[in-house]
Amino acid sequence: MLSLEEYRKLANDEIAAIPYPATPNGLYEPIAYTMDLGGKRLRPALVLMACEAMGGDVKKAVKPAVGLELFHNFTLLHDDVMDNADVRRGKPTVHRRWNDNTAILSGDAMLTMSSQYVAQVEPAVLPEMMRLFNQTAMEIYEGQQYDMDFEVRNNVTLEEYIDMIRLKTSVLIGCACKMGALIAGASEANAQALYETGLYLGLAFQLQDDVLDVWGDEATFGKAIGGDIMNNKKTFLLIGAMQKAQGDDANELRRWINNDYALRSEKVPAVTALYERLGMREAADEAIKRYDDMAFDALSKVEMSDEAREAFVQLIKGLVGRKK
Ligand code: IPE
Ligand code: IPE
Ligand code: MG
Ligand code: MG
Ligand code: MG
Repeated sequence: MLSLEEYRKLANDEIAAIPYPATPNGLYEPIAYTMDLGGKRLRPALVLMACEAMGGDVKKAVKPAVGLELFHNFTLLHDDVMDNADVRRGKPTVHRRWNDNTAILSGDAMLTMSSQYVAQVEPAVLPEMMRLFNQTAMEIYEGQQYDMDFEVRNNVTLEEYIDMIRLKTSVLIGCACKMGALIAGASEANAQALYETGLYLGLAFQLQDDVLDVWGDEATFGKAIGGDIMNNKKTFLLIGAMQKAQGDDANELRRWINNDYALRSEKVPAVTALYERLGMREAADEAIKRYDDMAFDALSKVEMSDEAREAFVQLIKGLVGRKK
């Protein structure tokens, strides 16, 4: 098995070699800008790691791994328009640096490029790869729609939230694990157990993202703090706070949610203080731990070498308490 850093490097080298046409520059420059800004490369690393863990040739997984990273980055371009976000990976978002139309169209091109890369597999596994990829993409769009629908609903349940983040975030992480397994020709049972490992890891991952959106350090996290609070995103934190708050706390939270003209400099610290008073940070940390444990349970059902298992265990542990 290679190290996580080596999987990232394989993905980054392939990303650096993406052949962008010279024109029209307005289409391709924002794609290169986004892809070259880096990011954790979690999804391609998982494709490569899962492929090797299942006894496959890691070289055969590089193109599809980059395909999933292209797909992930496409969703980010559109997500930043939908979330009105100014900063990503420490730099202005595409729709801020250029405009909304650029984010839409460069995103469209990235979606098509992503299928071209994912499709570079042996013919025998191509149908199943594309079925999984397309199903995952549709689920992500559904999750993103729920995420937006929930902004203007104040009765979202924890179950609805978990299903929303399963769709918008987890299925892509599960897909990354399963794609690696498919490329390696793993058994259906192993591919499925790896998919489930990714699903639970993805739930913990999105919960941690919600935590960092409130308590992260902007320079390290690379995104503006408080975006979820400004958008009334029904995160684990807000749903829990709405359920727990009593009396004055409940009134204050309701006022902030209903105040369409609240200043960022006032609403974000006030809602953060409410979350802290209500113990939401601790509650989120406990939930993250529960989902990580479920990921470890799913992982224990995958038949693989001790070395491969240890690589997954270290990757999951490395994401616990991540700062970016
Ligand atoms: C951001 O994903 C979107 C979420 C699912 C939270 P990442 O946190 O993996 O972003 P990058 O790719 O490392 O920038
Ligand atoms: C991420 O949700 C889901 C997708 C991009 C599909 P977020 O909106 O929380 O992601 P960030 O925080 O902007 O990266
Ligand atoms: Mg979003
Ligand atoms: Mg967002
Ligand atoms: Mg977020």
